Formats: sequence, structure tokens, C-alpha cells
Amino acid sequence: MIRSFTARATLAGRAVCEKRLKRSLGGMGINITYMGTKRALAPVVSEVIADAQGGALLDAFSGMCSVGEAVGTVRQIWNNDIQYFASKVARALFVACDPPPSALACGDAHYVAYKAQKDRLISPFRASIKAEDYLLQSQSYPEFERRAARVSEQLSRDTAACRVRSAHLFAATYSGTFFGIRQAIDADAIMGAIRLAESDKKVSRDEALWGVVGLGRALLKIANSTGHFAQYLKPKETNYRRYLTLRRRSLWAEWITSVADMSPIGDPMWRRKNKAFRGDALNLIPHLARTKADVAVIYADPPYTDDQYSRFYHVLDTLCLYDYPQVTGAGLYRPDRFTTPFSLKAQAPKALASLIRACSRTGADLVLSYPTNGLVKQKQFDIEAALRTHFRSVEVARSVQHKHSTFGASKGPARSEVLELIYLARSA
Ligand SMILES: C[S@@+](CC[C@H](N)C(=O)[O-])C[C@H]1O[C@@H](n2cnc3c(N)ncnc32)[C@H](O)[C@@H]1O
Repeated sequence: MIRSFTARATLAGRAVCEKRLKRSLGGMGINITYMGTKRALAPVVSEVIADAQGGALLDAFSGMCSVGEAVGTVRQIWNNDIQYFASKVARALFVACDPPPSALACGDAHYVAYKAQKDRLISPFRASIKAEDYLLQSQSYPEFERRAARVSEQLSRDTAACRVRSAHLFAATYSGTFFGIRQAIDADAIMGAIRLAESDKKVSRDEALWGVVGLGRALLKIANSTGHFAQYLKPKETNYRRYLTLRRRSLWAEWITSVADMSPIGDPMWRRKNKAFRGDALNLIPHLARTKADVAVIYADPPYTDDQYSRFYHVLDTLCLYDYPQVTGAGLYRPDRFTTPFSLKAQAPKALASLIRACSRTGADLVLSYPTNGLVKQKQFDIEAALRTHFRSVEVARSVQHKHSTFGASKGPARSEVLELIYLARSA
């Protein structure tokens, strides 16, 4: 294993092959499934944006940046999202100079530090890991249940006694919940390795950024959940085999493939002039207006259900912050989660009205996505009238039947059918 990661002579050639293969498979961007993503609608939204003024586009609620990806390099792209992970995704895709390393280069740069860090963490969790390894061999549900109870008891003891000083956030916080014990230790060991490699200048700041984004992407793939972190699944007779399959996956292996699987948009010269913000759009846009920022189009895709994004993606934010939060509740939520007014029925109309007014003050055109059954529509807020108050001309440029991805959030089905309206409001 170590040998293949240190066989530097062959690395460059293989990295080139990997990149070619990726390109031939059409593997651009980031491709992370996300609640409310506009990936399927992005080509249509991008057509509407093409009809607006020329110049920089601000995607004010960029999520996983599917619209920016679809617009591509025809304009400079500025992204913004309040969530830490989403903002890092935007920076990696649209601003970072360096592309992500290949799987082999990634392994080569990090394996030794990862292994050392992992060994340090295995020691305090040795007894729980042994119990977990035994659990993963279960052949029947009664066997699984008995063994799972033992893992849980041992894990509580090991966690309470854990005194390691090196990175141990995931092992101490999420073991046995969204992730298995070995998987959580891997997450800490990978983060420890990325930080060490960055501080020793073995990898660039951009490569470290790709490493963290790739780790978030890999964590989403192996998590014992339905694709988010609102809560983890409690194993039952009906799903314990899936649980076992997920728990057996190696996070290290997922991570190195995940990093190599992503590509930035455009070339470094173009990316240098893009921007990635992490802020509340309701503060950022007035700030851009006050400072007369050179933005020509604002794309707004605010949340439109009562699902708070911070409840669904808090583990990814904790990964970015790595700040050992005191977690609580069914999903082990961080205490300082952002509450967006766009997802509060009573506040959503006022928030949308403020957003529209703030956008108009920048002098930019506004492209707004909102479905006919969104929260503000339930409060009889008239979007078109609000747009007309502040913009010179307003049209519903497209109306598209769309499957909103909820991942079975609070609404039951994993995808719900909505009629998405795409408004184009021109300022001049
Ligand atoms: C519907 S999603 C955007 C999806 C995105 N267009 C895509 O295709 O991936 C809404 C996004 O807005 C972010 N958000 C919610 N309230 C915000 C606020 N006040 N300011 C900035 N971002 C916010 C959420 O974190 C979420 O990523």
C-alpha cells in the first residue's frame, strides 16, 4: 500500500491518464447531491441569465454551484452561501488556482501522516473497534442487535476515557452514529494529515481546500443517513444489512477517489477574477450596493421550504470549522446553526421583499427561482408585484416542472414535484 503511494516516478504519467479519463467521462465540477439543487434546471436558468446584462454574475445562494457550473466561463462568477461547506465548494470550483490532486498524488502526499494519526487514535478506541469489527461480521439481526449493544457500551467508556491531544473530533463526536468508529477515526486522521501537509507546505492552500471538500463529499457517501445529516438511521431488521454495507466502506479509499473525481471550472486566469463569499445574502447584497460593486446579474435561489439547511448539513460545517462543538439533539446539531428567515413561514415574505429591494439597489438584473408552492406563496406574497415595485421590467422567463430533492426530509418522499418559476427582472 505505502509503496504504491511513494512510487513517484510513475505518478505524473498516471495522473495525466486519470485526468484524461475523467475528462472523457465528462467528470466536471463537483457533483454532490444536495437538497433543493438546481442541477437539473441549471441549463434553463443559464439561458435566462444569458438574456440579462453582460458582466459578473453573483449566485447569492450558491449551494453546490450548479448554476455557476452551467453558466461557465462566459462571465466572471461570484458565489455566496451562508454555510461553511457550501462556501468552500464555491472557492474550490471557481476561485482556487490549483486543481485537485490525482488519487495517487493525494495518497502520496498524505498517507504517512494519515497512518500515524490513525494509529494514535486507534489506541484509546481499541476495545470499541474490536467490538465494531465483530459487529460488522453479523449474520443475522438478533446477532447484530446483541453486538451493537456491546459496541455502544464500550464506545461510551472509551470516549469518556479518551485523552488524546491530536485531532479527534469525529471519533469523539460522531462514532457509532452517522459513521462507524473506524470511519470517524479516518475522518480525523485525514483532517490531521491535510492540516499538517498544508502547514509544512507539502500541499498548497488550494490542494488542502480540495482535500476538505473531497472529505465532505466522501462523508456524505458513507454516512448512515438518507444523504444528509438531519439525523442518522437507527438500524432495524429491515435495514441493518445496508447499515453494515455502509459501515464497511473505507473512508480513506472513498476520500482519495472523491478528491480526484472533482475538477475546477475554467482556467486559473479566469478563476483568479472570481469571488466566493460566505455570508448572509441579506447583508452581502446591501454591502455590494453600498460599495458599488461591479455585479451585472444576481441569481437568487433562496430556500423555499421550512427545512433549515443548517440542520441538514451541520456535520460538513463542523468538518470545515473543526471546532469541537457541544452537539445536541437527534442529529447531533452544532449549537450555533444559522436560521435562515427564508425557511420560516412568518419571516419568509419579509426576507424575500428585502432581498428583492437590496438586489435592485445594486443596479444588477435579478434572476429569481421560486416554485409556485414555496413558503412565501403560502402567505399570499406576490413575487411579481414585489419585483415590479423595484425593477424596470419583469417577466416570468420560464416555468418548469421540476423534482425538488428533499431526501425525504420532513416531507416524506425523497423528491417532490414542483412548478418552478424563473423570473427575470431588469434594472435598466
Ligand atoms: C435552494 S439552495 C441553493 C441550491 C443551489 N442553487 C444549487 O443548485 O445547488 C439554497 C441555499 O441557500 C443557502 N442560504 C440559506 N439562507 C441563506 C442566506 N440568508 N444567505 C445566504 N445563503 C443562504 C443555503 O445554505 C442553501 O445552500
